[in-house]
Amino acid sequence: TKSLKLGVAGLGTVGTSLIELLATHRDRLANLGSTVDVVAVSARSKDKHRAIAETAGVTWFDDPIALARDPAIDVFVELIGGEDGVAKEAVEAALNAGKHVVTANKALLAKHGVALAQLAEEKGVALNFEAAVAGGIPVIKTLRESLAANSVRRVYGILNGTCNYILSTMTDEKRSFGDALKEAQDLGYAEADPTFDIGGFDTAHKLAILASLAFGTEINFDEIDVEGIQSITDADIEAAEDMGYCIKLLGVATQTDSGIEMRVNPAMVPEESAIAEVWGATNGVAIDSDFCGSLLLVGPGAGGKATASSVAGDIVDIARGIILPPLMRKAASLTPCVRSKLGSH
Ligand code: NDP
Ligand code: HSE
Repeated sequence: TKSLKLGVAGLGTVGTSLIELLATHRDRLANLGSTVDVVAVSARSKDKHRAIAETAGVTWFDDPIALARDPAIDVFVELIGGEDGVAKEAVEAALNAGKHVVTANKALLAKHGVALAQLAEEKGVALNFEAAVAGGIPVIKTLRESLAANSVRRVYGILNGTCNYILSTMTDEKRSFGDALKEAQDLGYAEADPTFDIGGFDTAHKLAILASLAFGTEINFDEIDVEGIQSITDADIEAAEDMGYCIKLLGVATQTDSGIEMRVNPAMVPEESAIAEVWGATNGVAIDSDFCGSLLLVGPGAGGKATASSVAGDIVDIARGIILPPLMRKAASLTPCVRSKLGSH
């Protein structure tokens, strides 16, 4: 049997779940044609107890960039996070060294995705990022593969599990915003800096990735109109409920005659709509395309296990020799769009 050798940088919520998944499903993966072996790992603190770092045959690296270049690995798995800094340098180092890369890092891809995809294509290696958008939901595969022969008009939805968890918990259990955020952090849903979640930026990162795939173009993340949920109060939620609505943080990207419109903001959605039923840390991604019509993909949007499932699916693609070209090319500028604080959707 062949062996695919992984270097995993980042052993936090997602990294730990990935290691667990690879051990749980070792035989299943081998039956697909290749064993998947973690041969090198890296994280910030060497002092934390991590069984994988003490496993025979696994090399610890203090520096993820050195791990990315390790001749012993075939695939560099980046689960550190951050749009610049060590994650970016390590991914570039891996691609330049001819390694396949799998990452869950939406901040990195929203800012540098096109350049990284071009580098991967030049080097003839994979850059896979299913986990970067909507956790366990296979939305990148849906856009890159299943809908590749469609013209997508609109992609929108609930793309942040932390915010949806907070809004759902405030509605159902009348918990305070602060308590609900703390719970989301304890459950491993939130970013290391939760301002990215509640400020709407994480949703905007994911929307930029989806739009660049859906519309085949590079998106300038800084041009997206972003409003988060920090100012949503109990009173806002009750007022919406009284009118038969609930409040959701939505990201919406639409191809119009005058260009691509993109926005992230809290919106009132009718209680009986399908998107209103997306509850807790679940995400819901809707895609409207010309031949397929409307799709709504609903599933776990955050959390170690579901996210690791997507990372592992990307690794299996590489083990099978599937290397997809990027679908993002020319740059497009966004049309300015007008929004109101609680614009009804
Ligand atoms: P965590 O904060 O739980 O883990 C981050 C890991 O990276 C830790 O092991 C940390 O080390 C390590 N790390 C941080 N800085 C460095 C550094 N300079 N050098 C080496 N290692 C470093 O994050 P998550 O697992 O939650 O997220 C990882 C990535 O996955 C992020 O890009 C995130 O946006 C993305 N993601 C997360 C999801 C989730 O539900 N949590 C869902 C989808 C995507 P140490 O353990 O020593 O602190
Ligand atoms: N912090 C993110 C969220 C993780 O809450 O959706 C999944 O990308």
